[in-house]
Amino acid sequence: MAEIVQMFLFLYKSKYRRKYYKYDEDKIEFNITYALLWAVILWVTVFHHTAIASTTTAQLEHTCNPTNCINGYCINGSCICYDGWQGSGCQYCSGKKELTLFDEEEIMNKRNKSKLGINDRNILNELPPYDADLLWFHETIRYKRRMLGRYGTKGLRNVPVGALWPTESEIEDRLEYERVAFPNTLQEDWALIAKRNEEKERKIKLRDEEVTAKMAKVDQWRRDYEAKVAKKEAEIKAAQEKRERLIEDIRREFGYKIDPRDDKFKEALAKKEKEDRKRKKEARKESQNARFMAQLLAQAKADNAETQPNQTTEEKKE
Ligand SMILES: *[C@@H]1O[C@H](CO)[C@@H](O)[C@H](O)[C@H]1NC(C)=O
Ligand SMILES: *[C@@H]1O[C@H](CO)[C@@H](O)[C@H](O)[C@H]1NC(C)=O
Ligand SMILES: *[C@@H]1O[C@H](CO)[C@@H](O)[C@H](O)[C@H]1NC(C)=O
Repeated sequence: MAEIVQMFLFLYKSKYRRKYYKYDEDKIEFNITYALLWAVILWVTVFHHTAIASTTTAQLEHTCNPTNCINGYCINGSCICYDGWQGSGCQYCSGKKELTLFDEEEIMNKRNKSKLGINDRNILNELPPYDADLLWFHETIRYKRRMLGRYGTKGLRNVPVGALWPTESEIEDRLEYERVAFPNTLQEDWALIAKRNEEKERKIKLRDEEVTAKMAKVDQWRRDYEAKVAKKEAEIKAAQEKRERLIEDIRREFGYKIDPRDDKFKEALAKKEKEDRKRKKEARKESQNARFMAQLLAQAKADNAETQPNQTTEEKKE
């Protein structure tokens, strides 16, 4: 800045300038102030511009990154354009340019979106993955055969296809394996398969029949089950009612509302139940006796009936 100011001062203070204004002293004075004013204005505008320029370049230097330095390298914060590009972010085209090897590499890098390694990329494009034998097994016949199978002759590079043909002993082995593992002829195998299928179908049919037969009985089974459940429930209910009746009887005996958890109550209940059981036993005995008597009578009648068969049939009807 100081240089610019000095330059203006030099221009306006030089003797040539003064010489020029010598003819009119008033004018000179006026012009000197005028010139100084101009100098100040110019100086301010120039200073301002350079200041802006320097700040913008400074900003650029600090904000350079791969997103705003589009066609260039971002080095130490400043964007260095590739050939054929210009501008602060190298965003403008500056004309035609022949591609060099370096540029092509750059382009290939930009096209490399998958970021796959070369081998994987080759496999993806159905090309043999390696250009040379890198590992020991790449040199084996087995691997070469696989490459031939997958990628055709280009998978072999310079190995002749004939080299991969199995040797005589390998063929022998293979034939023996076939003989042992699959001893039947094709026709025999077909017959076996047909038989197997028939057997399978027969089994399925049998099972179907079984299921349909059982399904026909399902309703009956369900009814039986429901009847069984109902009977059980009725039994439980009867037992409950009986017990309630017993409790009621005991209460009536005591004459007041006694707690069923009371020991006295329990005692009474046990006694009552015992009596009940006894009564039942007697009843059973009686009925047994009655049945026995009936049998005896029947026997006697049968004996009579041998002489009077007409009478026994009538009695039997009764
Ligand atoms: C970046 O700047 C530093 C000093 O600020 C310098 O030592 C270095 O060499 C520069 N790097 C490049 C690639 O220009
Ligand atoms: C693509 O990029 C990946 C990762 O940067 C690299 O390993 C691979 O070699 C590149 N592929 C090609 C064809 O340049
Ligand atoms: C049963 O008795 C009646 C007479 O009371 C007689 O007419 C009838 O033939 C007798 N039946 C038999 C099977 O003896």
